[in-house]
Amino acid sequence: MAQADRLGERPHPPPYPPAHTGEGREEDPAFGVYVHWPFCRSKCPYCDFNSHVRHDLIDQPRFVRAFTAEIAATAARTPGRTVSTIFLGGGTPSLMEPATVAAILDAVANSWHVANDIEVTLEANPTSVEAERFAGYRAAGVNRVSLGVQALDDAALAALGRTHTAHEALGAVAIARRVFQRYSFDLIYARPGQTAAEWRTELMSAVSHAAEHLSLYQLTIEAGTPFAALHAAGRLTIPDADHARNLYDITQEVCADAGLPAYEVSNHARPGAECRHNLVYWRGHEYAGLGPGAHGRLDIDGVRRATATERSPEAWIGLVESQGHGLVTDEPLSRAEAADEYLLMGLRLAEGIDLNRFEMLAGHPLSAEQIAYLAQHGFVETPGAGRLRVTAAGFPVLNAVVANLAA
Ligand SMILES: C[S@@+](CC[C@H](N)C(=O)[O-])C[C@H]1O[C@@H](n2cnc3c(N)ncnc32)[C@H](O)[C@@H]1O
Ligand code: SF4
Repeated sequence: MAQADRLGERPHPPPYPPAHTGEGREEDPAFGVYVHWPFCRSKCPYCDFNSHVRHDLIDQPRFVRAFTAEIAATAARTPGRTVSTIFLGGGTPSLMEPATVAAILDAVANSWHVANDIEVTLEANPTSVEAERFAGYRAAGVNRVSLGVQALDDAALAALGRTHTAHEALGAVAIARRVFQRYSFDLIYARPGQTAAEWRTELMSAVSHAAEHLSLYQLTIEAGTPFAALHAAGRLTIPDADHARNLYDITQEVCADAGLPAYEVSNHARPGAECRHNLVYWRGHEYAGLGPGAHGRLDIDGVRRATATERSPEAWIGLVESQGHGLVTDEPLSRAEAADEYLLMGLRLAEGIDLNRFEMLAGHPLSAEQIAYLAQHGFVETPGAGRLRVTAAGFPVLNAVVANLAA
């Protein structure tokens, strides 16, 4: 996630080409549904996701009723869509009872058409208790899990405030492999004190347990978290830019060698095994955001709208019970905003963006001079068919590349 944000001297291009996305094409129709489960057993000190710890039992049937109402209200605004992907994210969705997941998936199927080959992902924490529910999730209709393994080193896991060991996490990965056709797991790297040799060894072990997909995030210090306070007090040191770049290069090299090239800045997959739900975001397709603190992008009457729901679980459920949905933001995007968003999201992908689509959204083409300037420096390329993509040399300075093009 953390990216260098300056266009400095041209870095040496790594000796591996950027990947192409094997999963479908940008022009294929896609409609995603994101469902946010906002509860966690404990709060990890680096995390600023909308996640809450509650010591009282969560009334899951009440949440099911609220999700069902919000799904119906959203479907009424988006008739005729066929849902191609559902993502149950969090927080910790693996704290949901399988019956809760089944009821939410039924509500989606009762409100929209669903594609025959729908991808249904559930984000899970890799504890043994949660892995026991995997078969129940599969019976409910989940066909892919994404596990938050974070590290394969017990000291690092403890420093990240995780409640599982590496052994327990790999046990959950093994159960996921038996129960689901598709699974992925997340690791966080560029952790305090992590050496290049340690990361290479850990990542090589991780790829040996990964079937088709891995998400590899550089530790980001998020404002307002305990890690941010420790960092500000000088009690937590993260790798400097050069060391982080070295760890990033190791990540690309080890994954490419293992047949898991990057198809997005932090996501690696065998070609064809990309997360279709996340491609919905990066390819600028439509998606509904349901549950506390969820974001959506809906195309209504030819205008792209940005939606967001109330973040507090209790306030969200109160809103849904009183007005049928928990929306607190529902705004049209201007042409410039929609085009910038497409640029920002699409250039994260190795496949890049469609220049004609950008022009249609923005009402003007991207600057040919800027493209030529960035191409001369080796940061972008135009591989034909009207596409623009970032090169292996451009990805480490992606923010600066996007800023140059958007300017
Ligand atoms: C919303 S979390 C949900 C996953 C699940 N609750 C868990 O922790 O296992 C999604 C992923 O974001 C990543 N993540 C969260 N905060 C991060 C941070 N500050 N820096 C880097 N990665 C982060 C973690 O890898 C995590 O698995
Ligand atoms: S990383 Fe996962 S388990 Fe930890 S607080 Fe964030 S959402 Fe919850």
